[in-house]
Formats: sequence, C-alpha cells, structure tokens
Amino acid sequence: RDMGTPAVKSGTTVNLTVDGIKVRVPAGTSVMRAAAEAGISVPKLCATDHVSAFGSCRLCVVQIDGMRGTPASCTTPVAEGMVVHTQTDDIARIRKGVMELYISDHPLDCLTCAANGDCELQDMAGAVGLREVRFDPGANHFNAREAGAPNPEYRPKDQSNPYFTFDPAKCIVCSRCVRACEEVQGTFALTIEGRGFDSRVSAGMAGDDFLSSDCVSCGACVQVCPTATLIENKVIEIGTPEHIVKTTCAYCGVGCSFDAH
Ligand code: FES
Repeated sequence: RDMGTPAVKSGTTVNLTVDGIKVRVPAGTSVMRAAAEAGISVPKLCATDHVSAFGSCRLCVVQIDGMRGTPASCTTPVAEGMVVHTQTDDIARIRKGVMELYISDHPLDCLTCAANGDCELQDMAGAVGLREVRFDPGANHFNAREAGAPNPEYRPKDQSNPYFTFDPAKCIVCSRCVRACEEVQGTFALTIEGRGFDSRVSAGMAGDDFLSSDCVSCGACVQVCPTATLIENKVIEIGTPEHIVKTTCAYCGVGCSFDAH
C-alpha cells in the first residue's frame, strides 16, 4: 500500500506516538509515513511514496503536541518523543473544508468518469465524510463547459499523445505529475503555470501540447495522477483493469518495467 512519502534510509531511529500507538521509524521519515507504519492512514491527495513530498493539498494536516497550528504530515519529519494526533475534531473539520473546496471546482460526472472506483479524490471525499458542498460550482473549467458558457479559463482535453489523455478540467494541481516527470523519468516536460486558483499544469511552453513538449511518453505522470486528469486511452476505452501485472519491456536492453493490463 502507498505509505504517503518515500522510505528513508538512516542509521538512527526515532520513537514517537501516533494516536496513542508507539512507533519507531528511521530518522528523517515523515509523520505521514510514521502514521502508516503504525497502521494509521492519513488522508492525502498530493503525497505518494513514488515522489518527494510537496505539501500542497493540505488534506493531511495533523496536530502535534507542543507545535503550533496544523502542520502537513507529509512534509513534517518525525522527532524523538513526538506525540501526533491525526483524528481530532479540528482536524476533521479542516479536512472536510479542504475537500469541499476541491469538489466545488471538480466535474461531478463520477458515474461516467473512466476513473470511477479508482479515483483518489473520490476516495478522499468519502474518507473525510463529505456529503454536500455548500459553495457554488467554480467558474473554472468543466462547470462552465457544461453550462455552455464561454469561459476564458476553459482548456480542452489534450489528446495529442497516442497513449494517454490530459483533461485539465479534472486537474486538482497536486503536482504529482510534475514531480514524477522530474524525479522518476528525469525529464522536465511538465510545469505549473500561474498562481493560486489560476495555477495549472502545462506540458512544455505556452501553446504546446503533450506531443510537442519534451514528454517521452513514459507514463510516470499517468501512474501517479490521483484523478482522471491523466489517464490511459486504453482505460477510457475499456475501463479500469481488474488485474495489473508488472512486466519488463523487451524493446531494448534498458529493462524498463511497466504495468500490463
Ligand atoms: Fe500532505 Fe497533500 S498530502 S499536503
């Protein structure tokens, strides 16, 4: 299972308590991963153990004795004697509010979405107990497209790559894809443009699409995407596979492994 942040190797260990459970982890481990080691799953969207932590979604906040505020557990390293609380009423309220904002600007076509049942945004909405959204739908992307209104923010799907589709309307700008492109593939094809509500993932320079960018179609971005923003065309056509088998590409001698459906 995904532990939230990459494993850390260290010659020293640290003892801490998470929700009353004592756990010992290598020094430098994130609080999120320590919680996972203790069997506690902290809600998350931008963190995954495939890429370094970024701390952008704020869903993984926790409370730590002696520490002010509600730090993100994915970017907070453990410390000796730390006492962490992941399930207080305050934390539950904050997480629900964060999810409400995400969902207010996200397409609500779950039943017909190719990622239905395999969507981390959907899972996290359930995990934090979100049942209704108090805010008007965001003016961004999909909602305006649905209403047929002209929207300068609207960006159509990028279907230039033969293997996967990029649908900006479903993007929550968690930046997992950007980090995977850099850290897993060593390519810098993706970037985040703009700031705040206007920030968005882009391939290459302005006006580029995936095919004309530096993308090498490795699929690392697709694998880490928590929604249906980056999704294999095969999944769109035939649905989510029941089984995935890890295999090795026989095309050349590098030995890249990939998931075969
Ligand atoms: Fe920690 Fe997103 S999972 S901030």
